[in-house]
Amino acid sequence: MKTPIFKDLPMTLRRADFSDDFVWGVSTSSYQIEGAATLDGRVPSIWDTFSATAGKVRDGSTGAVACDHYHRWEQDLDLAQSMGLNAYRFSIAWPRIFNGVDAEPNAKGLEFYSKLVDGMLARGLQPWCTLYHWDLPQYLQDQGGWENRATISAYLHYVDVVTRHLGDRVRHWITHNEPWCTAMHGNWDGMHAPGKRSLPLALQVCHHVMVSHGRAVALIRANVADAQVGIALSLHPIHAASASAEDQAAVQRHDGLRNRWFLDPLYGRGYPAQVLELVGEDAPRIEAGDMEAIAAPLDFLGVNYYFPEVVRDAPEHYPLRSAIIHPEGRERTAFGWEVAPQGMVELLARIARDYPTGPLYITENGSTYEDQVSADGSIDDVQRRDYLIRHLAAMRDAIAAGGNIRGYFAWSLLDNFEWAEGYLRRFGLTYIDYATQERTLKHSGHWYSAFLHGAQN
Ligand code: FCB
Repeated sequence: MKTPIFKDLPMTLRRADFSDDFVWGVSTSSYQIEGAATLDGRVPSIWDTFSATAGKVRDGSTGAVACDHYHRWEQDLDLAQSMGLNAYRFSIAWPRIFNGVDAEPNAKGLEFYSKLVDGMLARGLQPWCTLYHWDLPQYLQDQGGWENRATISAYLHYVDVVTRHLGDRVRHWITHNEPWCTAMHGNWDGMHAPGKRSLPLALQVCHHVMVSHGRAVALIRANVADAQVGIALSLHPIHAASASAEDQAAVQRHDGLRNRWFLDPLYGRGYPAQVLELVGEDAPRIEAGDMEAIAAPLDFLGVNYYFPEVVRDAPEHYPLRSAIIHPEGRERTAFGWEVAPQGMVELLARIARDYPTGPLYITENGSTYEDQVSADGSIDDVQRRDYLIRHLAAMRDAIAAGGNIRGYFAWSLLDNFEWAEGYLRRFGLTYIDYATQERTLKHSGHWYSAFLHGAQN
């Protein structure tokens, strides 16, 4: 393999620019990497069903094998350790823990995560556990999934079992990953499992997910000494297509559902009145005590930052009367997502200005490009490396401006099953040859590693 050269770094950046106790991680999720879909008592999740349905995943693939992390986790944790990381974010596959509504917990499933956590601790990696990263057991979807309030109780039972089992070793807990995606991609635009298309359904799902989050907080604290509990939200700066009053007003409406719909209730303000008015009868049914539950105080907020959105006034669009546009001439990843490190600075400042969040962590940030494997087997993903450097520099600026940002998790350690895009999108710092399962650290991964080992760039 070529020795990576970092002479051409676009800017100077060192780990020493951040505090000694800064959390440096990578982020992963169960369905995207584990594979072993039918092993050791795992039952299908909504993603097994969805990805097996023709036309749902662009390359017709599923997560049945993925990165085979279920068998190769030691190698993967070795890699994370060798990079100089001090934290590792992973998620638990609920269908490995329970195989039915009244079932006993599956000892083999718990044992897998127990070994995984021990493996992290042995390698100096602080475990950050996400309890729900979209792989709902199919047997629960068969009873209505998150639309059914009973799923809240099922989730709390699952959380209780997992936190009792791992709580002696895992302090950092994330209740849900990106509830916007769970609700809206899953039930409004149908791009994700379970693939439904109904706004009132999506809003009801969203509400139940948020209630389950809030009610899980006290439970986790009861089971885990000194627990640090948070949620990971996908948040976006929203910009106007023009300076017109109409487009500026569209920004407010769009932001209402994209960002404030989550942040306002988490910090005790209820759902934004403006959005409730826009959705009218499609608003979720809320029971007594729900909003108080959602507002359970948190120890941190996880921010998944990928890109800003630009919107214009669009009176014909129900319910927000806004439309996302993609202005020409902006730098974009292969996915079409705008590359905007400054957007991260802006977003973090806005969150801190508007909400009493306490510590913030970037729980995901990363990019996908068309990786080329060179004749010598190396992957010179200079664009991904630069994306990483520029976002770390932006984070440094956000901290210098007073931001209470305590950690960064790059998405992702490995190329993996990228949901509706299947294996067409590579987000890894490590290249996966899916035919052989060989792992090769990309140039971006070498850069992150050199940075974490204190290289003087
Ligand atoms: C986020 C998801 C994560 C991954 C990245 C690219 O929305 O949380 O699983 O798919 O996007």
